[in-house]
Amino acid sequence: TPDAHVFRDPRMIRLTGAHPFNAEAPLTALLGEGFLTTPELFFVRNHGPVPEVEDAEVLDWEFTVEGMVENPLKITLRDLMAEYEQQTYPITLVCAGNRRKEQNMVRKSKGFSWGPAGVSTALFTGVAMSDVIRRARPHKKARYVCMEGADKLPNGHYGTCVKLNWVLDPNRGIMLAYKMNGEMLRPDHGRPLRAVIPGQIGGRSVKWLKKLILTEMPSDNWYHINDNRVLPTMVSPEVAADNPRWWKDERYAIYDLSPNSAIAAPAHGEKLSLAGGPQAYRAKGYAYGGGGRRITRVEVSLDQGRTWRLADIDYAEDEYRKAERTLYGGKVDFQWREASFCWCFWALTIPVQDMAEAKDLLVRCMDEGMCVQPRDMYWNVLGMMNNPWFRVAIIREG
Ligand code: MTE
Repeated sequence: TPDAHVFRDPRMIRLTGAHPFNAEAPLTALLGEGFLTTPELFFVRNHGPVPEVEDAEVLDWEFTVEGMVENPLKITLRDLMAEYEQQTYPITLVCAGNRRKEQNMVRKSKGFSWGPAGVSTALFTGVAMSDVIRRARPHKKARYVCMEGADKLPNGHYGTCVKLNWVLDPNRGIMLAYKMNGEMLRPDHGRPLRAVIPGQIGGRSVKWLKKLILTEMPSDNWYHINDNRVLPTMVSPEVAADNPRWWKDERYAIYDLSPNSAIAAPAHGEKLSLAGGPQAYRAKGYAYGGGGRRITRVEVSLDQGRTWRLADIDYAEDEYRKAERTLYGGKVDFQWREASFCWCFWALTIPVQDMAEAKDLLVRCMDEGMCVQPRDMYWNVLGMMNNPWFRVAIIREG
């Protein structure tokens, strides 16, 4: 296969056949990892073949800063590591298609079926993208930073953009990363260099990064226009194909993630022994928000949403926020003291009796902007940003 040089963990669940590699970990295994996901179980979303980079070539990897700048740059990874301030902090990446399987079960979208594990967290090390962009001296009229990867795809290189003023805002933590959990990036995750855009959909974090292009208009890359959009719900696959106007509308392009959560315990299909006694069941899962907004409550229902119980929330990210810590040889330094760019874990102790009487378990979360996950699904043709209440049926043993 085109990716013969890439090692892959057998626990990963392939979502699109042999090639390209798109995969998620079983949810229980993913949460079993805890706050930081090992690279082997980190979800993978590849549009095509993984570029092959020999060990000896890693530091010579070159990328350019061009377009509307006074001082175009050509930078090697060696220069990036030597000449710029290095930073390390945890970031959760989420594919905009996370939980799409539930949408496809209602009505087939144009995307493949992600379960709820299209999300993972790692400690990324790199350089603030703003440091690089500033050295290139952007023109006053430049408004976007377009990014392009090295992977060769049917419609050109993978590319997209973010706003220049986001990149220049230190509170957004946008970086050029070359390490994940203290080791050089693995091939599937962008070796040797990728963009990481915290709080936004994974699709903006371009892997195998070759170009930063400053422009006045949003990216015209095929993948920016044809992917990662929430089109109005009445746009069907047939209508979408004939009407390019839907695609060019930048208002439908997704940037910030929206509040989302899932239940890992009980797992789908898991048989529970709920025979009487004083025991309690500990339900567990994850939740995340977008744009740096923190999840401030997680609620669980055992009666189809009529009443809700408040779950405990564990923000492991806060451990890293405490002053300065050294981890995997890197200084962990939050430039943002307020924003939150990682998932949290929730848990709720439920009397076994209540579990035994319930049909299913529902979870929903709310962020600090009081945005709550909706009850109903917003079906859209690309199957993006699915975040209604997450449901697991309760199945009794025997
Ligand atoms: N960058 C390039 N060059 N090519 C890609 O196919 N996929 C994007 C993004 N960056 C992609 C890319 C998408 S849709 C997602 S969700 C993330 O990478 C996934 O990152 P990961 O595979 O490291 O989890």
